[in-house]
Formats: sequence, structure tokens, C-alpha cells
Amino acid sequence: MVVDMAQTPADMVATGDCPTVRRPLESPIGLFDSGVGGLTILREVRRLLPERDLLYLADGANCPYGARPPEEILALSEEITRYLLGRGACCIVVACNTASAAALQALRARFEGVPFVGMVPAVKPAAALTRTGTIGVLATPTTLSGRLFADVVERFAEGVRVLTQTCPGLVEHIEAGGLEGPETEALLWRYLGPLLDRGADVIVLGCTHYPFLIPAIRRLAGPQVRVLDPAEAVARQVRRVLEGLPPAGSGQHEFLTTGRPEALSAAVRHLLGFEPAVERLSWQDGRLI
Ligand code: DGL
Repeated sequence: MVVDMAQTPADMVATGDCPTVRRPLESPIGLFDSGVGGLTILREVRRLLPERDLLYLADGANCPYGARPPEEILALSEEITRYLLGRGACCIVVACNTASAAALQALRARFEGVPFVGMVPAVKPAAALTRTGTIGVLATPTTLSGRLFADVVERFAEGVRVLTQTCPGLVEHIEAGGLEGPETEALLWRYLGPLLDRGADVIVLGCTHYPFLIPAIRRLAGPQVRVLDPAEAVARQVRRVLEGLPPAGSGQHEFLTTGRPEALSAAVRHLLGFEPAVERLSWQDGRLI
């Protein structure tokens, strides 16, 4: 084992029974979400870009974003972006439909020259796939009332019936680790049932938290219903954006949260299969420290 003695003990993290040394990230891809949801995007980014360093920020202290006013989400997103750029991020992935709806356009204007990748519910592929002519979109109120969503529906869903459904309590349930079991299924069914009853044969997951529940969603919806998770398409877009930037990184991750570190570690373990070191940040007078 090689130990770089220039590193302080605080830089040591335990992986299995062998302590290893963390190196500073090199021009990482910065990703953020209100909580653990953006990890569903990070997982695909990691798969497509194994060499890149990734810096993930979960704003657990303000989760959920879904019903907050857009101005508030914009202020949070601006500060998070500033913070991630301050830690060397080469680009920012807004791994959250709600923050994309509320802030993406303003972030691009405010941080000129910074590459951003954002999200919008996958209405376009859903409209192409449906056989019944009805698709269902699960998302937060802020996402569904935003202009980005109205635009994709107008541009890509002509002649298709688009049913929308908000899911109160679902993000909180996922943050608390409720990914399986009767309670999870009952909550899901409340939101999925009305879409299926009205003939939706494609379900768009318009919130990055929901793919945590894909096994349960598929079970409830049955094999004839397609469930669309946009993560791979977002990761492909990140790869395209990075084509213009110099190669960097060695496949490391860093995880930051303003909320409960255990919630983020548990989600990383579940989705990515390893035990992460999680750094705690706090909000003070609108600034992250
Ligand atoms: N994961 C987020 C999204 O994609 C945010 C959900 C929330 O915080 O309400 O919309």
C-alpha cells in the first residue's frame, strides 16, 4: 500500500479494511439535487465517463424542492453552483427536474461560459413510444408548472394525451429509505393508479428521485407499460459537453450534503454499492460553508 504522507489524517477514508488516500479531485463534474435523487444521474455519468472525477452535492437541508417557489429554488441553485465552481467543477449537471425548471435558464445567464446540463421530463421519447396515445408524467408541482415542461409538451406531444401527476410525500419517503414494501407500494399506487386507469402505457419519471422505485413501479404497472428514466440520456449529454474540455480525473467521487449524511451514504450504498465518505456543509445567511 502506498500512503502519501503529505495528506492529513482527515483525508484518509476507510475502504474495506485498508485505509486509502483521497487525492484532490481534478476538474470534477459538479452535480446537484435537493437530495439523493441526482445519484440516479450520477450513476449513469459514472458508467459513461469512468475516468472523470465527480463532485455531488445534496441539498438535504432544503429537501424537498418540489413545492417551493421558483425564486427560492433559483437562489439555492445559484449558491450551490457558485460553491461547486469554487471547488473546481468544470461543468454543472442540474440533476434535478425541479431546479432545472426553476433555475436552468437563469444559471446559464448568470454563469456565462460555464457548461450546464439540465433536465426536462422525457415527453419526447414517451410520445414516440405510446401505442394508446396517452402518456403519464410523474413530477413535482414546480416542474409541471414551469415553462420548460410546457415547451416540450407543445413541441413533441402533438396528438398525444399527456396526463400529469404530482406525488406529495414520495420524495420524503425515498429520502427516508422507503424503497420497497407495502407502504411504498401503497403510496406509489396512489399516484400511478389514476394514470394507468386512464390508459397511460408510458410513464415518464420526471423527478430524479423516482428511479429509486423502478422495481416497485414496474411491478405495479405490469410488463405492458414502459417506464422512462432519463438518466442515460442526461449522461450522454454530459459526455457531449465534455468533448470540448481537456481530459481530467481518475474516477474519484466526493459527496457533500447540507442534510443528514446517513441518508446520502445509504442511498450511495444502495445505488452504487460502496460506502462513501460524506462531507457535511451548512447554509449560513444564504451561503454554503
Ligand atoms: N429530485 C428532484 C427532481 O428531479 C427534486 C425533488 C424535490 O426535492 O422535490 O425534481
